[in-house]
Amino acid sequence: MAVREILIHPDPRLRVKAKPVADPTAPEVRALVQDLADTMYDAPGVGLAATQIGVALRVAVTDLVWRNEEGVRDLHVWINPEILWRSEETTRYEEGCLSLPEIYEEVERPRRIRVRWQDLEGAVHEAEFEDFPAIALQHEFDHLEGRLFIDYLSPLKRRLITNKLKKRFKKRA
Ligand code: NI
Repeated sequence: MAVREILIHPDPRLRVKAKPVADPTAPEVRALVQDLADTMYDAPGVGLAATQIGVALRVAVTDLVWRNEEGVRDLHVWINPEILWRSEETTRYEEGCLSLPEIYEEVERPRRIRVRWQDLEGAVHEAEFEDFPAIALQHEFDHLEGRLFIDYLSPLKRRLITNKLKKRFKKRA
């Protein structure tokens, strides 16, 4: 169990495309998931991808409810997730990201998606999500491709945000 350092944009490691997990049941994967959960709850955030702690493996965790009800946790583990289908219908949400502290911008994405993923036992699941869960999952799985939500904004807006974060986190670089 460990809270890991979350990489801040424009750290180049956030742009690395993550590799598939060969064996989801491996002890290293369980340890990685535990670290991701600890780091997400500590932050706190509703999702965290392995990319964000500098591990280029296709693993992410989410908990979309725990902040709403005291003591209630709903941790979900996503190993080797794939978006099989995206609706043509889109929706707009104001997104934030632990790798872009205090930056919030509206992003347009498909409103519904169908996802296939594996759990820590290696079992394969498939399900459809809509609205906030669908948006959160697209955001997290983008991290595994080396994509950030600011990539959907105009180049000018992206540059302004990048400069702002560079200035603010100069000491860490
Ligand atoms: Ni994020």
